[in-house]
Amino acid sequence: MTDKDFDFTRRAFLDGVLKATAGAGVAAAAPWAVSAASAAPLSGDRVRLGVIGTGDRGRTLIRNILKTRNCAVAAVCDNFAPHLAKAQAIVGANVPAFADHRAMLDARGLDAVVIATPLDFHAPLAFDAFGAGLHVWCEKAMARTIADCSAMVKRSQDSAKVLQIGHQRMFHPTYLNALKRVKAGEIGPVTQIRASWHRNTSWRRPIPPGSTDRKINWRLYREASAGLMTELATHQLQVGNWFLDAVPTRVIGSGSICFWKDGREVYDHVALVYEYSDGRKFVYTSHLNNARYGCEEQIQGSKGTIEPELGRIYQEVPPKVLALQRMQEDVKRGHKRTVPIGGATWFPELPVTTPGDSLGWGEYDETMLQFEGFGEAVRAGKPLPGMLAQAYAASVASLLGEQAMDRGEAVTWPTDLIAV
Ligand SMILES: NC(=O)c1ccc[n+]([C@@H]2O[C@H](COP(=O)([O-])OP(=O)(O)OC[C@H]3O[C@@H](n4cnc5c(N)ncnc54)[C@H](O)[C@@H]3O)[C@@H](O)[C@H]2O)c1
Repeated sequence: MTDKDFDFTRRAFLDGVLKATAGAGVAAAAPWAVSAASAAPLSGDRVRLGVIGTGDRGRTLIRNILKTRNCAVAAVCDNFAPHLAKAQAIVGANVPAFADHRAMLDARGLDAVVIATPLDFHAPLAFDAFGAGLHVWCEKAMARTIADCSAMVKRSQDSAKVLQIGHQRMFHPTYLNALKRVKAGEIGPVTQIRASWHRNTSWRRPIPPGSTDRKINWRLYREASAGLMTELATHQLQVGNWFLDAVPTRVIGSGSICFWKDGREVYDHVALVYEYSDGRKFVYTSHLNNARYGCEEQIQGSKGTIEPELGRIYQEVPPKVLALQRMQEDVKRGHKRTVPIGGATWFPELPVTTPGDSLGWGEYDETMLQFEGFGEAVRAGKPLPGMLAQAYAASVASLLGEQAMDRGEAVTWPTDLIAV
């Protein structure tokens, strides 16, 4: 299969492409996607979703749900009236709107809820939804504490309801193609993933009338958030665990409030090393005051490197450029002055800047695709295989990283997690 095969539309994605790759190692590594792809035709009554939390993300989710073939937004809920009004403007006046999620659950008429509130509300809202006999789709990270992540898993199991977490990269065609190529051995054994999420923004939002700093800027305060770890790193830790096919054995890290000394409680600057079996590592940095290296996972094997956010695969041994030749070019461009060097056989160990090859792009939207998968899971009354285990491990890893930085010591992987 060539990369051209991955230039598909989002419809083609669930309908065919995953089936085509299933035999190539993807089936075992992404069983949720293969299961969603081979689900019965996406027809019949739409799965009725009640969206709780219609802030920035909630409204993006609503727009994506509206694009699916098997889900409908059957109710919206937010305890901040201006955000509820914005959601109503998208879904229309016929869709019931609630200021309190309990009133939404009592009104019935739903198959599942979608939770897109601040992190500290994920677990209590999920518990109420399971209590009302509903399935749950919840944004990442799962919960503010590892104990609550475990309790969410347990409640979904005890109530035999689907719990799916918002890790859209698990449905991202470029990531699935990257995974296929790793499984095919194209970049050799992966020994390290170097990941970063670097932004240049305070993350601080203006406070609208009638609200408070802690409600609007919940990401900046410990009660509601582990900051960069639960907001950003959790996505990339899922990718790390997925591509290394394991969970970490332990983590060390350093966190600081280094740049935005504005009263926030969460770190704006984190650096961590997650260790995996056989000495493999996931090396991570994230901060909020330099965007040069952006968001990426550099998946490094002995034969090559994959960068899925850029959608590129690089050979490990590109044609070498003699130092002398390189130096001449630099001098010509005015980047360097002439300096005496050691001889024509010397090669500089500089970063490789060859463009690599494309991993393929398409017209798709992984955020929408994950809802089509969720819709089929709800219809079947069974979670998509493997998804929750990935999400649980990613959330635990992000919260363990917070602990390692707070304590300034290595923290080992918990032994009392729920079997998924
Ligand atoms: N998967 C992704 O790529 C991605 C991207 C952004 C955000 N997120 C996640 O989405 C969630 C929401 O983030 P956001 O940026 O939209 O936050 P936000 O502050 O913009 O929106 C949260 C909304 O929840 C409402 N809310 C709070 N408590 C509530 C309650 N008890 N009942 C009903 N409504 C309540 C707030 O009024 C607000 O409108 C977070 O978990 C975040 O991590 C995920």
